[in-house]
Amino acid sequence: MSRNKSSRHAITEQQTADVSEAQIAVHWPEEDYFLPPPSFVAQANLADPGVFERFSLDRFPECFKEFADLLDWYRYWETMFDASNPPFWRWFVGGRINACHNCVDRHLTRYRNKTAIHFVPEPEDERVQHVTYQELFIRVNEFAALLRDFCGLKTGDRVTLHMPMVAELPISMLACARLGVIHSQVFSGFSGAACADRILDSESRLLITMDAYYRSGKLLDHKEKADTAYAEAAAKGQRAEKILIWQRYPGRYSSPTKLVEGRDVIVNDTLKEFHGKRVEPVQMPAEAPLFLMYSSGTTGRPKGCQHATGGYLAYVAWTSKYIQDIHPEDVYWCMADIGWITGHSYIVYGPLALAASTVVYEGVPVYPDAGRPWRIAEDLGVNIFHTSPTAIRALRRSGPDEPAKYNYRFKHMTTVGEPIEPEVWKWYHQSVGKGEAVIVDTWWQTETGGFLCSTVPALHKMKPGSTGPAIPGIHPVIYDDNGQELARGSGKAGNICIRNPWPGAFQTIWKAPERYVNTYYSRYCKNPESKDWRDWPYMAGDGALEAADGYFRILGRIDDVVNVAGHRLGTKEIESAALLVPDVVEAAVVPVADEIKGKVPELYVSLKPGVESTPEIARQVSDTVVSRIGAIAKPHRVVIVPDMPKTRSGKIMRRVLAAISNGQDPGDVSTLANPEVVDRITQLVR
Ligand code: WTA
Repeated sequence: MSRNKSSRHAITEQQTADVSEAQIAVHWPEEDYFLPPPSFVAQANLADPGVFERFSLDRFPECFKEFADLLDWYRYWETMFDASNPPFWRWFVGGRINACHNCVDRHLTRYRNKTAIHFVPEPEDERVQHVTYQELFIRVNEFAALLRDFCGLKTGDRVTLHMPMVAELPISMLACARLGVIHSQVFSGFSGAACADRILDSESRLLITMDAYYRSGKLLDHKEKADTAYAEAAAKGQRAEKILIWQRYPGRYSSPTKLVEGRDVIVNDTLKEFHGKRVEPVQMPAEAPLFLMYSSGTTGRPKGCQHATGGYLAYVAWTSKYIQDIHPEDVYWCMADIGWITGHSYIVYGPLALAASTVVYEGVPVYPDAGRPWRIAEDLGVNIFHTSPTAIRALRRSGPDEPAKYNYRFKHMTTVGEPIEPEVWKWYHQSVGKGEAVIVDTWWQTETGGFLCSTVPALHKMKPGSTGPAIPGIHPVIYDDNGQELARGSGKAGNICIRNPWPGAFQTIWKAPERYVNTYYSRYCKNPESKDWRDWPYMAGDGALEAADGYFRILGRIDDVVNVAGHRLGTKEIESAALLVPDVVEAAVVPVADEIKGKVPELYVSLKPGVESTPEIARQVSDTVVSRIGAIAKPHRVVIVPDMPKTRSGKIMRRVLAAISNGQDPGDVSTLANPEVVDRITQLVR
């Protein structure tokens, strides 16, 4: 393990040459505050301002007892926090717990007949399935019995899931958790090859998948990907013992891809043998891994972020209760995909630990039209809504007036995953939230398990474009590139770190402990020999600034910053300015090498449907950027594109645009949702 002095300044994979400037200019104007509605405050789970005192840094680590006490323990832990081997922190040591018991069994006394999961199929004429806690208990037990007795799985084994957004996905995860089997769910939109890499890295014994699922009105053949995943992983040395295939329509196989004798198992058939079976939850050590989540990193091998059972579950339960404000009677809908960390923490484990009703929606938000989410909200009585800026922009683009047509009421809304432009935030607030919902802008990462920064919804004012202060128990610090702390509230940008460990943080990168240390802890470690957690701040890899009011603004990954003539411009500031032009619906900035200024920003924009691309619009965009930010940010060029290259999860691939702008090869684009746009954009640019 590289813990010698020289590793402190080693280039980690998140750093680039761009990160060496200390003086940074940020030009996103400060916005006015919005107050949380009194009706929200009156019913909030957390309205006691004393919470910040309770979670002050000198109360670390004892303050986190409150988190653990939201859970049922078979054996209560003895040591809250063990720092003997930094930065491999251990939480709730000595405790015994089962995550499935906490999300299912313990709710049966009070909530047996309450809906746990509302499964909403994409075809609108197909009925919503309301899975009660009782039914969830039965289905999880029967599937756990199958995994244990038919597949021979035991505690500590790894299983790869490549499941779409159906009720069987949380059922499969919870069945694994019941047995202490480590699940690794791969986003269903990923290719078979990407799935193979994860089977291989995690050394999974099984692949669990589904025959088919709906996406934009088409029943996709998903089993086909399992064959590729199996073959590629096997060729590299990891041969899964079986492929378990759930049927999208039980009793009917919906894929044209043939089954392989002896390897492929139709779950819905084999489950019949386990009718009525019950499996005692395994009493796991608090620190036993619950799951792996491979991070969607755009460079390097995927990293298997390993999350612990006790610490993770306590963290997502607490943040779901107090930041998401989930009460058992709420209907909660997080429109993320369970294939990402957001779905693990805030569709499955957090809400179910609190006995909420959680919505699992199979399809795309704008299918068949941009009114779909609001019809679902109206039909199910959803009152807490959670989604990403990308989805908000898409819904705003194709149906700005749709929300008003439906009779739903949100008390609380979340945005997550990227900075949200103030313009887009205001549409979310006014149109989607009808001016009545509180909004939290939650900043966190796959690695962190749950939220790091957010307003506490009943206690803080909201400020569009800023994530808010840290949540109780989290103490951020911003360092410049020389390792100096920036003064609190300085408004200067630097690299955001967290001073203290917290229970939701990942334990390590699966099979790569050195990479874990180097990527997240080496750069700002004060003394590699130290056993004191204070010497080991966690480096998030994001640029950020803290305004005078203590609200943080996240500027994006530290490699998403354009350094123009020594001034670092957050790409988001420029993009936000471009979005002020009424015809523009999406904007992406990439740095282009420039002889004089080092880098200049090049701006890609896409327009509202039906709007003609003209030089006049390009000029308007450029002028708006200059007038909002200053000449320093003037785009080198404004390229109007038919669509942005996007990942399957909807993130704009700036890396691809940057390659095109810089005359480089964009590399492998086959995993994009729309690889065909790459050629068209290249032609436009050259
Ligand atoms: C970015 C998603 C601004 C950030 C939960 C982070 C955000 C990366 C926000 C993690 C936010 C996440 N405002 N940026 N509210 N939330 N990010 O691992 O750059 O998919 O490092 O986790 O998304 O992405 P990940």
